[in-house]
Amino acid sequence: MKVLVTGAAGFIGSNIVKLLESKGAKTIIFDNFSHSSYKNLDGTKGDVICADILDAAIYKKLPKVDAIIHEAAITDTTLLDDTKMMMVNFEGFKNVFNYSLKKKIKLVYASSAGVYGNGRSPMSETQEAAPHNTYAYSKYLCDVHSEKVSKVVKTPLVVGVRYFNVYGPNEYHKGSAASMTYQLYLQMKNGKRPRVFKHGEQKRDFIYVKDVARITVEALNLKKNAILNVGTGTAGSFNEIIAALNKSLNKNLKPDYFDNPYADVYQDFTQADIGLLKKLGIAPEFDLRSGIKDYVINYLEKEIQPKADSAKC
Ligand SMILES: NC(=O)c1ccc[n+]([C@@H]2O[C@H](COP(=O)([O-])OP(=O)(O)OC[C@H]3O[C@@H](n4cnc5c(N)ncnc54)[C@H](O)[C@@H]3O)[C@@H](O)[C@H]2O)c1
Repeated sequence: MKVLVTGAAGFIGSNIVKLLESKGAKTIIFDNFSHSSYKNLDGTKGDVICADILDAAIYKKLPKVDAIIHEAAITDTTLLDDTKMMMVNFEGFKNVFNYSLKKKIKLVYASSAGVYGNGRSPMSETQEAAPHNTYAYSKYLCDVHSEKVSKVVKTPLVVGVRYFNVYGPNEYHKGSAASMTYQLYLQMKNGKRPRVFKHGEQKRDFIYVKDVARITVEALNLKKNAILNVGTGTAGSFNEIIAALNKSLNKNLKPDYFDNPYADVYQDFTQADIGLLKKLGIAPEFDLRSGIKDYVINYLEKEIQPKADSAKC
């Protein structure tokens, strides 16, 4: 099988490429290297296409593939350039979507739990969306577009995967947009007390990138179109992350709590309803503890995390 992965030099995309190649698939690595590191691609074998998903001409030059996994997006939710966010995340998505329609290639694309905003938890795929920033809105539009088109046109398989909070190897290039686990690890590794908003009981559905990559790849085998939550189904607190990091690092650093300046708009609780994932038999394998243990012991502590770096084409 040959799979084109957009955003393949980024955090989740590079984990997907590595998983696909470990299963014997051939990969095409498509990325404009705007928010990534070439070092994420260490050990990968796929042909690299350094290009922008907004570049209409590139679609005439793509090699024949059996499937597309679309991860490319502006992922810094705090970016103030709404035009850029909407262009890349929505118009770029439509370019990839239209290409998959035209060539009849199955497509799995990254959506986000952000579409639920501060909606009720556990968050279910069928509940009303309530995006509360441009990033979340751009992802919501992708889901709406794919569902709308699928109703009037016979599409190849199209699956939207709504990722919750992902952590794991190859996220270092994301800086302040990297996971809470990574940010707290960096502080604790240096012997500093981990700083979190009072009183560390904010809870999120944190999912390990190895599960995310596996579920995304397995979604290519679904029999019909779907929008799927990709979370663990459990909400973990910042305090629990600190406890798991202390254990993996063999430390006992107490949290340093401080007032949350964004308290009135802050998302205090997210939890995925993973009923649909379980029904499809592709549920996650790592819980927060085992995910953090694997991440710290097998990656962060072995220093096989390259330092932040980025190449542009
Ligand atoms: N990390 C999370 O917790 C999370 C949660 C929900 C959804 N997602 C979604 O998952 C996908 C992957 O996110 P990530 O965390 O790996 O982020 P990332 O920023 O590490 O990866 C995004 C990749 O897309 C590339 N890219 C950006 N604009 C491009 C363009 N115009 N053309 C070609 N390539 C472009 C970047 O260079 C980067 O390699 C994104 O669609 C994101 O919205 C991530």
